[in-house]
Amino acid sequence: MKVLVIGNGAREHALAWKLAGSTRVDSIFVAPGNAGTSAIAQNLDIASSDIFAVVQKSVELKIDLAIIGPEAPLAAGIVNRFQEKGLKAFGPSQEAARLESSKVFARNLMQKHSIPCAAGRSFTDYMEALRYLQSQPAPIVIKADGLAAGKGVTVANTIQEAQEALKYMMKDRVFGTAGDRVIIEEYLSGKEVSLLAFTDGKTAVPMVPACDYKRAYDNDRGPNTGGMGSYSPPGFFDTKMIEHILKTIIQPVVKAMSDAGNPYCGVLYTGLIITDQGPKVLEFNARFGDPETQVILPRLKSDLSDIMLATVTGRLDQVQIEWSNDACVGVVMASGGYPDKYRTGLPITISPGLSEDINIFYAGAKKGADGQIFTDGGRVLTMTATGHTIKEARQKVYSNINFVSFDNCHYRKDIAEREVI
Ligand SMILES: Nc1ncnc2c1ncn2[C@@H]1O[C@H](COP(=O)(O)OP(=O)(O)O)[C@@H](O)[C@H]1O
Ligand SMILES: [Mg+2]
Repeated sequence: MKVLVIGNGAREHALAWKLAGSTRVDSIFVAPGNAGTSAIAQNLDIASSDIFAVVQKSVELKIDLAIIGPEAPLAAGIVNRFQEKGLKAFGPSQEAARLESSKVFARNLMQKHSIPCAAGRSFTDYMEALRYLQSQPAPIVIKADGLAAGKGVTVANTIQEAQEALKYMMKDRVFGTAGDRVIIEEYLSGKEVSLLAFTDGKTAVPMVPACDYKRAYDNDRGPNTGGMGSYSPPGFFDTKMIEHILKTIIQPVVKAMSDAGNPYCGVLYTGLIITDQGPKVLEFNARFGDPETQVILPRLKSDLSDIMLATVTGRLDQVQIEWSNDACVGVVMASGGYPDKYRTGLPITISPGLSEDINIFYAGAKKGADGQIFTDGGRVLTMTATGHTIKEARQKVYSNINFVSFDNCHYRKDIAEREVI
């Protein structure tokens, strides 16, 4: 089988790495890929946003399965374009991807089907939103409706701060049309967890849960980032909770999408907060999460290509999906200054002594002519390790992290720490 992975992050490197371990996969292409994927697959010099070129090339190469990593091409309808050419693509259609690409769509669906989420309302009129906001207590959360590269949510501690976010989105239109509709919702407190599920539009099978760390600095300080680390499984989250979320959230969403004529196929990522009243949905993503994927896939014992093919062809009820009991911890090594200004083009050195137990999933990293790898983005790589316990996995990662270095490297030192103290 010939597969194509679309995207260039550590998530896509992890997907290609897992697929490379399958006996059914003969060749792997990645568009555009990075320094990590080029070592295990063939990179294609096509941006993931260039849907026409990606699909064209897939037809030419007779790709058996295309796997879409990031949200933007899904929201732009890449899966529909693949299907029009008679090719199989793993991911939701443009209509189904609205669960991520429109937070208002997701909220309306949850409200209609009594799926637990934060109380709140959506607005298209700035003055109306402002009046509502002024009647609410703080803290409060303001969300842009559309895709905003992880920057569209403000958790405001004061109404003043919330007002500024509202103005920024609706009047200054910093996120363009993505901020023309906003959601104002109650602040939820509790532990945050991501539960991803494979779904073929009828059956949904949850993966192992994971937690990610969004803030740039230790103890959840500093600005939000694309994610600075993750681990699986969270100790506070048991199989009973997974069953409960499957029944009260994931299955109802899958059924609602199918009943509405937009069956959802691919990975449904549910971001949750476990509140005193039980789990509530923060958001849905229409794809694998990054950095969660880097700690989830090393725990998958079954063949990923089998699961994906079954998902795409509506046979998910016929596959067995097995997970290892091991724990996995992943730490993101980022360019100093990220998520603000940072330098790129710095050589990455891997010193002898790096344990064979360590996985390095590259993201913003590219190979020079002589084979040397250079930094090429904010998040440069995710280093992961598995162990019998979170403690063991965590210890492996942090005792190896200094074997990988580049100037001005920044990483969090507290990933998964709360699980071991
Ligand atoms: N209602 C809420 N209460 C408390 N925190 C929230 C709420 N909604 C979002 N957050 C916080 O903001 C982060 C980003 O929000 P999310 O809805 O996941 O949007 P996105 O990932 O698109 O930026 C969440 O991971 C969570 O930490
Ligand atoms: Mg999120």
